[in-house]
Amino acid sequence: MRAITYAGYGPLERLELTEVPMSEPRAGELRVRVTRVALNPKDALFRKGKFRVLSGSSFPKRCGMDFAGVVEASRSPQFSVGQRVFGMLDEWRFRRGSLADYVTCRDHEAAVLPDGVPDEAGAAVALAGSTALQALRDLGRVGQGTRVLIHGASGGVGTLAIQIARLLGAEVDTTSSAANLELCKRLGASVAWDYASGQLAEEKPRFDVVFDVHGSLSRATVRGHLAPRGVGINTVPGAARAVRDLLTRWSAIAERLIVVRARRGDLEQLAAWLASGAIVPVIDSRFSLARVHDAFRCLETKHARGKIIVEVA
Ligand SMILES: NC(=O)c1ccc[n+]([C@@H]2O[C@H](COP(=O)([O-])OP(=O)(O)OC[C@H]3O[C@@H](n4cnc5c(N)ncnc54)[C@H](OP(=O)(O)O)[C@@H]3O)[C@@H](O)[C@H]2O)c1
Repeated sequence: MRAITYAGYGPLERLELTEVPMSEPRAGELRVRVTRVALNPKDALFRKGKFRVLSGSSFPKRCGMDFAGVVEASRSPQFSVGQRVFGMLDEWRFRRGSLADYVTCRDHEAAVLPDGVPDEAGAAVALAGSTALQALRDLGRVGQGTRVLIHGASGGVGTLAIQIARLLGAEVDTTSSAANLELCKRLGASVAWDYASGQLAEEKPRFDVVFDVHGSLSRATVRGHLAPRGVGINTVPGAARAVRDLLTRWSAIAERLIVVRARRGDLEQLAAWLASGAIVPVIDSRFSLARVHDAFRCLETKHARGKIIVEVA
């Protein structure tokens, strides 16, 4: 089968479309014929070797975490052959990758895609939607009336975080470039701030939760925007952030680090929201598997609006 692989860490030119053997599902696993994949910054960061402590030095590595497709073989009681599914690989070493004709996943990494929900919508929400849900619901404890600021709201995680925060009952402010203010408002922001204008810093409104999706706000800025008992959530891993995540859990202001995990229950919640139209993924662009380099070029501008989709079949 075809798969995107790389033989060493480096720039996107390292990515190659190669032939690899198909793996057989073990107990609790299923093999999915992939139709759509959504890209995530993690795909590029790991390929560049930014987290080589976790990903190790065995090559070739595979690429891609989000997928949608059709179950082709199942050794899980949860899934049967022919079902449409979507999901995200909980992958750190990249021995598996979804940018391929087939992906073998564990049964907690997938959920059934309801009738009428396009494959690309499933792929688009799997990792980014799980991140937003786990950050806002589990770390931020967002509920009715919670005031939430989402920094970097126009990308893959941010566009879903706005919609999910609203579904949880929050009042949402966002930051983005001026070009994306209207998008953020359309998705549910009460106030959309242009991060380049300096206005947010001047007016300094207070929030119960600051979700720094872009990961670029200083600690002082986040603290300056938080109400008492507020929670700052960051997406960018690091040793200092991981330590503060532990040490501040019972402090007046908590600093939490989201590390998304694949959970079937969360994927099922996202599927239900997709089916009812409660969340609608924003798609920046679509590429064929043969144009995967162009897809990564687009991702690596760091200015995609929503998700980038790779059409595999
Ligand atoms: N820890 C975890 O579990 C986890 C999970 C998922 C993602 N992440 C991380 O979260 C980050 C965001 O992920 P993503 O999928 O949303 O990425 P993405 O889709 O590539 O984000 C692109 C967005 O970033 C915005 N942006 C660019 N420069 C900005 C700036 N200076 N200030 C604020 N926003 C800016 C852009 O908005 P404009 O074009 O309007 O500037 C664009 O819409 C990445 O670093 C990713 O690795 C972590």
